[in-house]
Amino acid sequence: MKIDGTRFRTIWVDETDSWSVRIIDQTKLPWALDLVRITTMEAMAHAIKAMLVRGAPLIGAAAAYGVALAMRADGTDASLRHAVAVLGATRPTAINLLWALQRMEAVLKPLGSQARGEAAYQEAAKICDEDAATNEMIGTHGLPLIAAKGKHGRRVNVLTHCNAGWLATVDWGTALAPIYKAHDAGIDVHVWVEETRPRNQGASLTAYELGKHGVAHTVIADNAGGHLMQRGDVDLVIVGTDRVTRTGDVANKIGTYLKALAAKDNGVPFWVALPSSTIDWTISDGLSDIPIEERAGTEVTMMTGRALDGSIATVRIVPKDSPAANPAFDVTPARLVSGLITERGLCGADAVALSQMFREAA
Ligand code: MRU
Repeated sequence: MKIDGTRFRTIWVDETDSWSVRIIDQTKLPWALDLVRITTMEAMAHAIKAMLVRGAPLIGAAAAYGVALAMRADGTDASLRHAVAVLGATRPTAINLLWALQRMEAVLKPLGSQARGEAAYQEAAKICDEDAATNEMIGTHGLPLIAAKGKHGRRVNVLTHCNAGWLATVDWGTALAPIYKAHDAGIDVHVWVEETRPRNQGASLTAYELGKHGVAHTVIADNAGGHLMQRGDVDLVIVGTDRVTRTGDVANKIGTYLKALAAKDNGVPFWVALPSSTIDWTISDGLSDIPIEERAGTEVTMMTGRALDGSIATVRIVPKDSPAANPAFDVTPARLVSGLITERGLCGADAVALSQMFREAA
């Protein structure tokens, strides 16, 4: 996608030295576009854990390049095992992380240690190219859902939570891909962007990328979504996901479940967009089987923003001695999900539909 006329992906190999990896430091957005050079597996693990890169598909792509950096330094079995263990422990909920690491292992294990560096870079690049193409297909398949609501030039209001746009993937995004396709097709689409406390990925990242693409949007407090649905101001909800069970339960950013409940109560379609790499075929009960990341309470007690004098400031918004809890994801049961938007098409959020659409994986 483009930022001020320049084409960007969220992760790429630096052409000047062909082995280091560049990322956009998303903790600096929307205030600064900081392109960070990553040169070691440990630095990549830190970038994932500290959320310089985030979003399930991008976490997978970053981990793949993390393995490549490790293999360039040392292509032995021990180094591969170590890299997979360190990168695999960074964030627990997004299954794309394990998916990418398993794919890298499958390619690298049969090779000798000398060949692993080059092969790892090639495989990581393949994962990135596939992710971009997959997400564009999600956009193509999701577009008719928006177009159907926009007959006779009517404005379509889509509500989304967190950031499942191109910043959360290698390119295009998942939940935002159909929105970009609709906008580019001339449909008058407007997005309600939930701020997404505590880290504000909606307010800082989704608003940023929609603005750069020229898509009409309005940032709302997380708690405003239900009210807007009651008033008939939301035509459909589209969100991304970090892990989908084989039965269609969906883990996504904390607060997603409440929006699914509100959508059900108000007859608003609730769609979840995902690449098939986000499906965990080994589990069937999202509530008991999906690990939910617990992050630091300081993400709840502190907020960062631009002060009126232009400086970036981090302030405390909670009394000094009040403890805070910070579950980062929740699970929306399949019964609340209208359907899944995948790279192969629209799919019911249930075991039969999923296994029919992805026969080989199921
Ligand atoms: O904690 P984050 O910012 O990594 O959470 C991201 C989300 O919840 C996204 O909705 C999800 O990863 C899907 S990204 C296409």
